[in-house]
Amino acid sequence: MASKVALISGANKGIGKEAARQLGKQGFKVYLGSRDLTRGEAAAKELQAEGVEAEAIQLDVTKQSSVDKAIAEIAAKHAALDVLVNNAGILKDRAIGIEESDIADVEATMQTNFYGPLRLLKAATPLLEKSKSAKVVNVSSTLGSLAKASDPASPFAEFRYVGYNCSKAALNMLTILSAGSLAAKGIKVNSVCPGYVATDINQNQGYRTVEQGAQIIVKMATSGDDGPSGGYHDDAGSIPW
Ligand SMILES: NC(=O)c1ccc[n+]([C@@H]2O[C@H](COP(=O)([O-])OP(=O)(O)OC[C@H]3O[C@@H](n4cnc5c(N)ncnc54)[C@H](OP(=O)(O)O)[C@@H]3O)[C@@H](O)[C@H]2O)c1
Repeated sequence: MASKVALISGANKGIGKEAARQLGKQGFKVYLGSRDLTRGEAAAKELQAEGVEAEAIQLDVTKQSSVDKAIAEIAAKHAALDVLVNNAGILKDRAIGIEESDIADVEATMQTNFYGPLRLLKAATPLLEKSKSAKVVNVSSTLGSLAKASDPASPFAEFRYVGYNCSKAALNMLTILSAGSLAAKGIKVNSVCPGYVATDINQNQGYRTVEQGAQIIVKMATSGDDGPSGGYHDDAGSIPW
């Protein structure tokens, strides 16, 4: 039986499923958070066939009752949660720019990409605290970087998705605030960007593979006691806030 436990939101497909696979292969028991349990169970079955100790768990990060139930289920079976990956995310912006933005889409995006991780982190903190070296990885995006968005020379500056970019910038602030307040409880919190990865979120337009995208998540999830907290990372190093 695995000695360490990880929960990954949005793990029925894409980067989340691959992060679960890689953590599972490093000996974690992985809970695959999935808003549709059937899809989560199919993903868990796939990973189990590769020798991973994987289990699907119903988890819609926009629903407090779903979040509370998932954490209670894990708490009933394990003394501690070692890794939480806030991976679930959506991109609903259909156009670039404030004039074209749709308030309902922006609100929905904030619900999933910002309130979701906040909700899950708050619910999971008592169980994370019980781990000897808990790690929280917030899957952000370089599109959430204020420094990049405000630099006309940056290639990221032209992608002005109001809902998505604001949600990831808010998630980054959550990383900074929670890394500060949870340090005393031994919990490290980092934001990461997986790079432009071919998944459903971008109609598979990304040029990186899920294997590549998941690596920075796994690196932060398995960093040692001397590892960073309160940072914003990609494969190349630190991303400017
Ligand atoms: N792909 C990229 O180029 C890229 C770049 C930078 C950052 N990211 C970030 O990486 C993360 C993973 O994205 P991906 O590329 O793997 O996209 P994806 O294949 O579309 O996967 C997104 C996952 O999030 C889940 N999800 C959406 N809303 C949810 C909710 N309310 N509750 C729980 N789960 C929910 C989806 O579940 P369903 O199957 O039920 O929809 C799916 O499992 C996201 O946070 C994204 O912003 C991706």
